[in-house]
Amino acid sequence: MKLLIDDADIAKIKEIYRYYPIDGVTTNPSILAKSGRQPYDVLAEIRSFIGAEADFHVQVIARTAEGMVEDAHRIVKELGQNTFVKIPSVPEGFRAMQILTSEGIRTTGTAVYTPMQAYLAAKSGASFVAPYINRIDNMGFDGIHVAKEIQDIFRSNGMATQILAASFKNSQQVLELCRYGVGSATVSPDVINSFLKNAAIDAAVDAFVADFEGLTGKGKTMATC
Ligand code: G3P
Repeated sequence: MKLLIDDADIAKIKEIYRYYPIDGVTTNPSILAKSGRQPYDVLAEIRSFIGAEADFHVQVIARTAEGMVEDAHRIVKELGQNTFVKIPSVPEGFRAMQILTSEGIRTTGTAVYTPMQAYLAAKSGASFVAPYINRIDNMGFDGIHVAKEIQDIFRSNGMATQILAASFKNSQQVLELCRYGVGSATVSPDVINSFLKNAAIDAAVDAFVADFEGLTGKGKTMATC
């Protein structure tokens, strides 16, 4: 499963990249709004940092298929061919996905709350579909179950479309989908930082260092003992 960062804060993106093997970045219009910067300024900076080959998912704003296609052309022109254009999985969006697929532009069907949306986005040529796990949970349904159902539909129909699971509130949700073999998960920096919040891990590492320093002296390491 690929692991992406769901944020546009360049400092947070850099910090996460420093420690973890990350495959790319996703943004949405609300995330861009939080940055307070002009959209293409922040997006270009992210692209430059993650490199031309990394997965980058950037969303259209227009409400008509023709407008979405125009948005997509600009997004790919500014941010490169390896950019997946996120398109809401609504009727105008399905039409835009079909047009863009015929042009060789890769799309991600987003705002997915139901398996039917995912199925139609896949049929329309989307490379990814993005079910919103936590938002589905908050509606009183089971987001993980919806994502698994989408994965089953793709597998049993031989569809190449992959899941880009989004909207996570904890590491267990991410692991559950990793176990199920979904293609990608995009996760906020806060939740990524919580992956290893575990007192037992810190205590184990501290004890190893203390034992070694007891043997060799304070501050000594395998390089300096
Ligand atoms: O792009 C959709 C996804 O990022 C939503 O996440 O945390 O706003 O529900 P969240």
